[in-house]
Amino acid sequence: MCGIFAYTGSKNAGEVLLDGLTSLEYRGYDSAGVFTPESGVVKAKGAVNNLKRKIPSGYYGTSGIAHLRWATHGEPTEENAHPHCDCSGDVWVVHNGIIENFKELKDALMKKGHSFQSATDTEVISHLVEEHLKSETNFEKAAIKAINELRGAYGMVLQYKKDPSRIIGARLGAPVVIGLGEGEGFVASDASPILRHTRTVVFLNDGEIASITPHSHEIFTRDSKKVDRTPEEIEWDEAIAQRDGYEHFMMKEIMEAPEVVRNTLRGRLIVEEGRAKLGGLEQVADELQAVKRLIIVGCGTAYYAGLTGEYMLEEHAGIPVEVELGSEFRYRSPILDEKTAVLAVTQSGETADTLEAVREGKRKGAITLGIVNTVGSTIARETDAGVYNHAGPEIGVASTKALVSQLTAFALLTMFLGRQRSMTATEGKEIAEALQALPEKIEKILEQKDAIEKLAKKYAKCRDFMYLGRKYNYAVAFEGALKLKEISYVHAEGCGAGEMKHGPLAMIDENFPSIAIAPSDSVYDKMISNIQVVRARKGPIIAVATEGNEGIKEYADDVMYIPDTIEMLTPILSVIPLQLFAYYFAKEKGLNVDRPRNLAKSVTVE
Ligand code: AGP
Repeated sequence: MCGIFAYTGSKNAGEVLLDGLTSLEYRGYDSAGVFTPESGVVKAKGAVNNLKRKIPSGYYGTSGIAHLRWATHGEPTEENAHPHCDCSGDVWVVHNGIIENFKELKDALMKKGHSFQSATDTEVISHLVEEHLKSETNFEKAAIKAINELRGAYGMVLQYKKDPSRIIGARLGAPVVIGLGEGEGFVASDASPILRHTRTVVFLNDGEIASITPHSHEIFTRDSKKVDRTPEEIEWDEAIAQRDGYEHFMMKEIMEAPEVVRNTLRGRLIVEEGRAKLGGLEQVADELQAVKRLIIVGCGTAYYAGLTGEYMLEEHAGIPVEVELGSEFRYRSPILDEKTAVLAVTQSGETADTLEAVREGKRKGAITLGIVNTVGSTIARETDAGVYNHAGPEIGVASTKALVSQLTAFALLTMFLGRQRSMTATEGKEIAEALQALPEKIEKILEQKDAIEKLAKKYAKCRDFMYLGRKYNYAVAFEGALKLKEISYVHAEGCGAGEMKHGPLAMIDENFPSIAIAPSDSVYDKMISNIQVVRARKGPIIAVATEGNEGIKEYADDVMYIPDTIEMLTPILSVIPLQLFAYYFAKEKGLNVDRPRNLAKSVTVE
């Protein structure tokens, strides 16, 4: 999730753009860059301040484009920083998203003599426009032709030195808003950098392309049909705009789950062959085929992602798996050899305990792998190979979208390793089709957010919560409890539902509700008998159940429904209502949900 910003008007574009990038900084801080036709391009590794330090005095322009990078393709280097241009240096582009077919486009353009400066997918766009400008002198038309060749997700802005006052924005799967001021126009990833100039905006829909000059704007579809969009006046302040109108980043990130799953899957499913294509593992595919044991290491939410991954990998890929807390692993003197793989799961890629576990694995000759969200992070660099899960930057300390993305990555890894072993194409195809259906199913759950808010308010006085789950939803129970603990500071614990009668049941009474994760899966009947044991002690039950299961109402005081899916993917759905419940519970207490006390987003100390 990068940040794009563009301006055309009469103000000093250099100042307007740098100012705007500052409010987009939460979207990415791997590198920053700006271009004006008058003063050219300046790029810097790291955050906006590094760029500001490099801007020469007198840097000027009346139009320009700018970018903040959250790396997906190509390491966070200055070469890979945006804006990128074509061979002539006339066509410039900034982009947020992933161009899936960039490799084949790049190969075709190189055959036509184009030379590329970066390893990014984005640079292919400016060269494509350059190619079309050879037969179509009108920049707008050439841009639309180029955009039609792209597959994947994008929020982008294009600019052409020979038509300097025109900026062209386009959206497919990544947010783009245009701003319409007095004699000036803007394009941005969200409204926050625009609001200090104008409150008149148009949020582009997927497939729309906007051509803007200081005194005009036109919106087209990809087949060049004009679209009449009525601008709206927005009242949000800048902070709200950064959160797309949500009160907290955590809520924004929970609501991003459908798009995040699409991004994690993007270009990685070969449905017909029931296979997953994971470029980051291709180079070690042979070693992975020979692996006899997989040890997953992680901390907090990442550990629970690993615990769920264990169930997927053992049942569907037939590979023995152990899951370890990063903080325990290195001090436990684990027995490792070259037939063992150590897989680190981490959002930040900087968690010290997990990093040390990777180093311990390396010391003992194991192959080290990663499921990592932050591109170019230490763990990503120190592991032998891995999968970037593309959840985008996660600002809220409580991990939400990153977990949903990690679980999706585990399903892809299960297909990858399973198809190397006993998984059939039919089985792989079933998983692939179920994965592709997840984003809409998550959207259906998110539509229940108001009902879940009511539920959180109903139980707001409770001080103790038990979370119960079995099999694929065993770890989800612990994750649900962690979410509630870390943002609302109440006592909550996860427990295997079958484990209750071995002790924790003693705590249960009418003031101690249990959230029972009971989708209609292979252990549903077991869950029901465990729920009845709690009910017999007057313990209130909030169930997470599969849509259409009316019978559960007999055993539960309240029910949060999730759509049906294959058993191994139920955790990706069942965790969503738990994230919403925890969020609304903490919000009801008026707590700082995004910056809970005593915690940090990335724990870089042991
Ligand atoms: C989760 O909400 C917490 N922020 C925390 O438990 C986190 O999952 C843990 O610190 C691991 O972080 P990582 O994924 O960045 O390695």
